[in-house]
Amino acid sequence: MRDQQKSAALLDWYDTHARDLPWRVGPSKHQENKGPDSYRVWLSEIMLQQTTVAAVKSYFERFTALWPTVSDLAAAEDSVVMGEWAGLGYYARARNLLKCARVVANDLDGHFPDTEAALLELPGIGPYTAAAIAAIAFDRPAVVMDGNVERVMARLFAIETPLPAAKPELKALAAQLTPQARPGDHAQAVMDLGATICTPRNPACGICPLREPCAARAKGIAADLPRKSPKKPKPTRQGIAYLALREDGAWLLETRPDKGLLGGMLGWPGTDWAEGLAAEAPPLDADWHDPGGEVRHTFTHFHLRLALRVALVPMEATPDRGAFLPRAQFRPSDLPTVMRKAFDLAQGSVAKD
Ligand code: ADE
Repeated sequence: MRDQQKSAALLDWYDTHARDLPWRVGPSKHQENKGPDSYRVWLSEIMLQQTTVAAVKSYFERFTALWPTVSDLAAAEDSVVMGEWAGLGYYARARNLLKCARVVANDLDGHFPDTEAALLELPGIGPYTAAAIAAIAFDRPAVVMDGNVERVMARLFAIETPLPAAKPELKALAAQLTPQARPGDHAQAVMDLGATICTPRNPACGICPLREPCAARAKGIAADLPRKSPKKPKPTRQGIAYLALREDGAWLLETRPDKGLLGGMLGWPGTDWAEGLAAEAPPLDADWHDPGGEVRHTFTHFHLRLALRVALVPMEATPDRGAFLPRAQFRPSDLPTVMRKAFDLAQGSVAKD
């Protein structure tokens, strides 16, 4: 089967099986010439990096309700946007999101550029996102590579080279398969196929529109591909976080520095996170106690074990770092997940005092 027939089979399948996603525009809107809104495509693709569709949906709905256009988002306050992003992870995305919105709103008249090269110039837009926006929002024949697409290509062409070494080969195959007509739908069709049928484990080959030409299926190795080079194990780091509750219900919090892990997010003051036991470094003198247990959280490059110290402090307490956030202004949902876990663990113990 030629590449053109493969992509035709895939588009036919997509016409009836495309997932209904809040940022997608159905075929009828396409026909009315109401293509997808590039702002919504951009926002969804930034959110979808390293994050599942299921996790993204509610965040996407909330962001577009609060900020319906790129200019609305550009005018938002940093802390409000970071708070709305809390829980989605990879917080550099949110900082770059705002930077990018401001460039588009202020320097580009509110219009996203319509080529891959120009999109790549914008903050937070790398090769994947530039290709995805060019294809989906502007129907350009860009080659969109993500984990789903790599898996589909590795199987369709039975590429046994392990990842990541196989990436250039898989991209070349994906490029060959990309049609000149409807490249945006094609890109989304490959992603949907990877997410719903050509899944990492137990692929549903029996109902796959590409079952006939699939070389891995013919060899009986579909579920074994793509092969992967062994990963380095993640180290474990340790740290201590200090949760101070003032008599009036205010919590001591700090905005983390823009650069680095959880940059720009709200968090509890604490020690650095490093391998080995951390030395105490409380943000103020108080009767700190250990509520027991620890917070466990996994980041991209390490596991974290976070011990907690909690204290009830008087109104006149003056911390070395951070600031007391009045109870009415504190929304636990503004915290990134690891800080939220610390809050949940500590809260019970302070309440008992
Ligand atoms: N994953 C990332 N972007 C996607 C999209 N546009 N459609 C389906 N899955 C995706």
